[in-house]
Amino acid sequence: MNADGRTRLNQTPEWTALAKHREELGEVQLRQLFAGDPGRGSGYTLRVGDLHIDYSKQLVTDETLRLLRELAAATGVFGLRDAMLRGERINVTEDRAVLHTALRAPRGAVIEVDGENVVPAVHAVLDRMAGFAGRVRSGEWTGHTGRRIRNVVNIGIGGSDLGPAMAYEALRAFTDRSLTFRFVSNVDGADLHEAVRDLDPAETLFIVASKTFTTIETITNATSARTWLLDGLGGDEKAVAKHFVALSTNAEKVAGFGIDPANMFEFWDWVGGRYSFDSAIGLSLMIAIGADRFRELLDGFHLVDEHFRTAPAEANAPLLLGLLGVWYGNFFDAQSHAVLPYSHYLSKFTAYLQQLDMESNGKSVDRAGRPVEWQTGPVVWGTPGTNGQHAYYQLIHQGTKLIPADFIGFARPVGELSEELKAQHDLLMANLFAQGQALAFGKTPDEVRAEGVPEELVAHKTFRGNHPTTTILAAELTPSVLGQLIALYEHKVFVQGAVWDIDSFDQWGVELGKVLAKRVEPALTEGADVPGLDASTAALVATYRELRGR
Ligand code: F6P
Repeated sequence: MNADGRTRLNQTPEWTALAKHREELGEVQLRQLFAGDPGRGSGYTLRVGDLHIDYSKQLVTDETLRLLRELAAATGVFGLRDAMLRGERINVTEDRAVLHTALRAPRGAVIEVDGENVVPAVHAVLDRMAGFAGRVRSGEWTGHTGRRIRNVVNIGIGGSDLGPAMAYEALRAFTDRSLTFRFVSNVDGADLHEAVRDLDPAETLFIVASKTFTTIETITNATSARTWLLDGLGGDEKAVAKHFVALSTNAEKVAGFGIDPANMFEFWDWVGGRYSFDSAIGLSLMIAIGADRFRELLDGFHLVDEHFRTAPAEANAPLLLGLLGVWYGNFFDAQSHAVLPYSHYLSKFTAYLQQLDMESNGKSVDRAGRPVEWQTGPVVWGTPGTNGQHAYYQLIHQGTKLIPADFIGFARPVGELSEELKAQHDLLMANLFAQGQALAFGKTPDEVRAEGVPEELVAHKTFRGNHPTTTILAAELTPSVLGQLIALYEHKVFVQGAVWDIDSFDQWGVELGKVLAKRVEPALTEGADVPGLDASTAALVATYRELRGR
């Protein structure tokens, strides 16, 4: 039994029914499924806002989908969704509400946490952000020497970096090109060095983004950035107020660091780090694209939130995508999931999804703390599609692993491309469609032979096919479409965590490494004796010190 009295996932009749169905399907072929249903290509599709979602190339039948939906019903996915949207503390191990959906709610909405409507506070911060972003963009906000800000450097890590960094790339076509944006996350000093080496401190604004304001990488980089700034501006401490702003939930720590709390943009503990990019954490993006475009992005998120909240199970896209992941992970032993955008602008999209998905669902105990007896979150990976085609697609096509994949593409290019570059778009998309086709239908030995291939090469040139993919298409990569895409994946991850009965909103797995790094550091710098250091690490530390010349 689960803590809430429900039967454990792998003991439910719905789970057993799916396992049986999987056996009955055996080596079902996509070729067969399409031959048996001429309407499949257009029938197995969903429309959500601007997103056209084609799941026809999935190894599923109507019966599979029905059984998966029954599993979702039995595991209370929609009940947990409603509890989340009501502001209940569904992050059980941290005893927190999970309300990133409130960040994009319209001004008049009412969403309560502990009896208090949080929407007015959300909009108050958005309004402050809009005012500040407008002043930076117009040149009204100047640096300490009176020069206008031309460079914005976001310092943060994890959810305080990946979201704005990804979205800045994604929406470059909509950004103010007279401003330079850099994103510093790694505690490797080279990151900050490369980000600021060609910048003028008098024209540079640092945005220190950290929910807790205790994250060692961010605080270390922010401290070094302050030194760089003061060195460049003659050492006047007053310069900090004009060149540093903070995005955080922790006003005390922000003040302690020396940033004027008047220059802090707040968010709240009910916003998880990896779900925070549409909170104050999006300030750098808002400066880049302007407050109106930022609102379009939030409205895109909200559109999918509403879809997730209201669409019936049969037409609910996050539910469907989540359940497909359960199908492959739990019934086909798929270990990973590839996300392959056919858009240069989405070059950081999969890296962003890695944190969203793997930090959320990389868990091995259920909500009550008992070991799970089923697979949980997949390894999420991928890079823009055409580049991948010339690198790792070989393994997807002809390797031994089953790798379900999502293709993401757009009908029109964005930005001020020349006519010649715009024309390349059809070739880009032809590649997306071709890959989906090749992965699904492959090439049989007979088809290979018919091309006159010598017998000894037939096996090498045969494509097994039957690799499941989803294709997500939209007209253009606009701010709204980006918001829709992210919300789609957020809720997909939610669905999977709900089915697996894990807490998708904590991240205890990152803690041990943080603690050990703090303990080991004095051994590196001072040769301090670290009690209890294992023999392997002790030997590595000794070698490191020797190589470092200490
Ligand atoms: O890696 C753990 C984590 O807590 C992430 O969840 C979070 O996004 C990141 O660190 C950064 O945390 P903060 O915003 O508090 O600096």
